[in-house]
Amino acid sequence: MTRPFASGAMARANALVGRWMTEAGMAVRVDAAGNLVGHLPGTDPDAGTLLMGSHLDSVRDAGPFDGPLGVLVAVACVERLRAEDVGLPFALDVLGFSDEEGLRFGTAYLGSRAIAGTLDAALLEQADDDGVTIGEALAAFGAEPSAIAGASRRETRLLGYVEVHIEQGPVLEQRGAAVGVVSAIAGATRAEVRLTGRAGHAGTVPMDLRRDAACALAEFVLAVESTARAEPGLVATVGRLAALPGAPNVVPGAAVASLDVRHAEDHVRATAVGALRDRAGAIAAARGLRLTWEARLDQPAVAVDARLSDLLAGAVAELGLPEVRLSSGAGHDAVALADLTGVAMLFVRCAGGVSHHPDESVEAADVAVALDVIDRFVRRLAR
Ligand code: GLV
Ligand code: MN
Ligand code: MN
Repeated sequence: MTRPFASGAMARANALVGRWMTEAGMAVRVDAAGNLVGHLPGTDPDAGTLLMGSHLDSVRDAGPFDGPLGVLVAVACVERLRAEDVGLPFALDVLGFSDEEGLRFGTAYLGSRAIAGTLDAALLEQADDDGVTIGEALAAFGAEPSAIAGASRRETRLLGYVEVHIEQGPVLEQRGAAVGVVSAIAGATRAEVRLTGRAGHAGTVPMDLRRDAACALAEFVLAVESTARAEPGLVATVGRLAALPGAPNVVPGAAVASLDVRHAEDHVRATAVGALRDRAGAIAAARGLRLTWEARLDQPAVAVDARLSDLLAGAVAELGLPEVRLSSGAGHDAVALADLTGVAMLFVRCAGGVSHHPDESVEAADVAVALDVIDRFVRRLAR
């Protein structure tokens, strides 16, 4: 399953989840950034709005739970509240964000940053691999890119943002816990690294006269690995590689890689990224190539809201479950929303810690626990 930002697959997901939101009693719309928004009014117009949800886009060849789980638990929570005739004083907005993974444009959090009011309009000019810009993709999706500033919720009185998400790691499984409360989210840098040399005939250009960009990029990829291995807690990944023009009998004249670097401490990440950039420059210089380094994301680590997180932990305790707090190495929409309002997250145990893979799975019983926790959390918040 692959569901990129503003794609046909995304339109079908929005239609399906939108129908479930409608059936749960919410008013449904898609905003100017392609986010699906389900709105449940509160009984007190002055009580503000609680935001819940996660993303509906996916990585390539994804599992089914990374993102949609959080949206569907929120919809199920609304369904349960309505079935039990619980009228909340505050309004609830369930958000299905249009882009958290950054698969299509290399830039993560397009949907959540639009809602947070931190999306730079200049970004709309950024193009995907087919030369389609974010603005054009949104227009083709039926959204209105020129109105993207209007997707911001800065003017809404907000109580916070709460997100349920599959853990994507092994901690809860190791601890024997169905759910855990997130304590912090690691920062991340993404960049596109391009090395440009000279294309040539694979049969005629002698080895000592080549300026082969793929060979240089291969050196860089291994430098990324060794840099991350040398620093505790640092993870660095080249997940996408291309040799151009991309033919068996052509010496690659250019090579492009994605780079993703993460660490819980921002200064460690910044130092590593600086070192990798220097290293790429040195590799390029030694081979007579040109380096272009395009920053795609520089996201500091994010602290969660203590009060909302304690409310979540309290709901877990009420259910008689062990209280587990854990940090997140993965990025989440909560990262972008933290610029707007207080955020809290609940992780759900995932089999083998496997994620960003079709084998990703959760137990229905653990999802039921997450729903109970969120239900209690919402009712506690209303007290
Ligand atoms: C999102 O899945 C990320 O952490 O890249
Ligand atoms: Mn993901
Ligand atoms: Mn996710």
